[in-house]
Amino acid sequence: MTENVMNNPASIIETQDVSMIFGGLVALDEVNFRVEKGSITALIGPNGAGKTTFFNCLTGIYTPTRGRILFKAPQPEGGDQVVPLRGLSPDKVTTLGVARTFQNIRLFNNLTVLENVLIGCHCRMKAGLWGALFRDKNTMAEENAMAEYSYQLLEKYGLSRAVNDLAKNLPYGDQRRLEIVRALATRPSLLLLDEPAAGLNINETRELKDLIHLIRDRENLSILLIEHDMSLVMSISEKVYVMEYGRVIAQGGPLEIKNDPAVIKAYLGEE
Ligand SMILES: Nc1ncnc2c1ncn2[C@@H]1O[C@H](COP(=O)(O)OP(=O)(O)O)[C@@H](O)[C@H]1O
Ligand SMILES: [Mg+2]
Repeated sequence: MTENVMNNPASIIETQDVSMIFGGLVALDEVNFRVEKGSITALIGPNGAGKTTFFNCLTGIYTPTRGRILFKAPQPEGGDQVVPLRGLSPDKVTTLGVARTFQNIRLFNNLTVLENVLIGCHCRMKAGLWGALFRDKNTMAEENAMAEYSYQLLEKYGLSRAVNDLAKNLPYGDQRRLEIVRALATRPSLLLLDEPAAGLNINETRELKDLIHLIRDRENLSILLIEHDMSLVMSISEKVYVMEYGRVIAQGGPLEIKNDPAVIKAYLGEE
């Protein structure tokens, strides 16, 4: 008997015994994980630990070999409903309210900043293919509203001066920022960031930290981030999970994690 019941009513997402096996390789081994609604949670661990694979399972890119993923999806009429995500397509998962960025930036390089954000909006459009092809009045009104919304997001998060620039011409830090804004355009209630500080210098990392705080305060959402920059993780997360060889080896508050012998060992082993 399967019951879609969360272990903790305060969660926005929970995984229950999620395993992902590639051929003989156990990339995720019975992962039990939860993100508290409204929190910033971090997932850390050495390279190859399974962190990105875990994001890929949450977002429908991979279907886990075993286990359950339960997400509290907001309902149009208000409130929310627990929905099992396993087996759903990435598009469907996005529409339910889970957005993500990628470890290696994935922007449409030859489109403008505004166009990149508009693409994010697209999953919220009511007009189907017909509307888009024939551009009836409703579709055009909807498109204008999307453009307005995209522009506002860019303004809110510091990219309005670059709206017409090609994505590829932005400084690296702004490309990371744009990817986050595009994810926000899907109106998520859970935002997943895969190594958002990768490749950023110290100043850009500080700006990213401010950006993440700003997003959490202004948008009504929860954030889960994979990150290697320990000072960033320790300064913004309320809860930290540590993964090694596909298993959660520790979880707790940042200070607790910092002093956890298993965590110290996992990290010293990597250096
Ligand atoms: N599609 C795949 N096919 C086979 N092995 C994979 C696939 N995706 C990831 N892996 C393997 O799973 C393990 C975890 O990788 P990954 O999730 O990228 O780690 P992390 O993000 O923690 O660095 C690695 O050994 C990786 O090679
Ligand atoms: Mg990774």
